[in-house]
Amino acid sequence: MKPSVGIVGCGRMGTALAKTLGDKGHAIVGVSSLHRTSAQRLAGICDISEATDRPWEITRKADVVFLTMPDGAIEYVCESISKQDGFSPAAVVLHCSGAHPSTILASARKSGASIGSMHPLQSFASIDLTQNPFKGIRVAIEGDSKAVSLADRMTRDLEALPLQILTEGKPLYHAAAVVASNFLVTLMGVAFRLIQQAGVPPEEAFAVLKPLIEGTLANIDRVGVHQALTGPVVRGDVQTVETHIQAIGQTMPELLPFYTCLVHYTAVQAGEGNRISEEMVKTFLERCKFG
Ligand SMILES: NC(=O)c1ccc[n+]([C@@H]2O[C@H](COP(=O)([O-])OP(=O)(O)OC[C@H]3O[C@@H](n4cnc5c(N)ncnc54)[C@H](OP(=O)(O)O)[C@@H]3O)[C@@H](O)[C@H]2O)c1
Repeated sequence: MKPSVGIVGCGRMGTALAKTLGDKGHAIVGVSSLHRTSAQRLAGICDISEATDRPWEITRKADVVFLTMPDGAIEYVCESISKQDGFSPAAVVLHCSGAHPSTILASARKSGASIGSMHPLQSFASIDLTQNPFKGIRVAIEGDSKAVSLADRMTRDLEALPLQILTEGKPLYHAAAVVASNFLVTLMGVAFRLIQQAGVPPEEAFAVLKPLIEGTLANIDRVGVHQALTGPVVRGDVQTVETHIQAIGQTMPELLPFYTCLVHYTAVQAGEGNRISEEMVKTFLERCKFG
């Protein structure tokens, strides 16, 4: 029989887990949230019998408890449930934060439960789900051995792939996720601003850049980051970069630190990949001072 599940925190992650684990045959014993209405909403969608704002009422009955609230609230919610004897000593308690270690659940371990973290490496932007949002993604797992083995099983149930990580590696692991996802969005926002300033209508900005973005991702996949680099830096074309700096300085000077910072790291990366000489790297760093 599959382990039963209790979910505390009925936002985007709690909703995705309740819906998908329920679909995969796990009994969801109940859901709880800061506001009872959020728990009732989720219970209504997933046909769950118990919805409450007193989490210990449902967590006591669960083999696995997911604490899916904002990162800053996980530790004290866990403590408040522990104080109410809300975890079975046989339970596994998991949170889904990418940055924080499983050890923030230490109060549950004192109650005899096993603790771990299980971070789905995906951006969940909405509570409206039409398909399994976990399918094919990686889920980073760390914690006590019992918690790790159970999280591994739950991950495979979600049709995702487990990625075991070191507890102490979580901040850098999560920084990588932020660069790959959040900063990509920031990067695209700046590209849209620049192309609109050049005269492309805003509604066409993404469509115009999309094949370039997709082609670049395909190149990284095929030949890796060093060989995927094209453009003025890898060609050693300092003059073109200076033309960009001049144009940005005249029209959107607030973007100059952003642009020069990225030229700096692009040149460093091109040097590391032996795509340009050390001398050329230095030239770019001198011409593109930022900060
Ligand atoms: N969204 C993502 O892309 C993503 C990806 C990977 C991991 N995660 C992780 O998943 C966790 C949840 O993130 P999320 O995006 O689902 O957040 P979210 O959509 O903002 O939802 C958070 C939920 O937690 C509830 N909550 C807040 N304080 C609470 C408390 N003291 N007790 C009980 N419930 C409380 C809120 O309840 P009410 O609705 O009742 O106010 C809300 O429904 C975080 O640890 C986050 O790092 C998120």
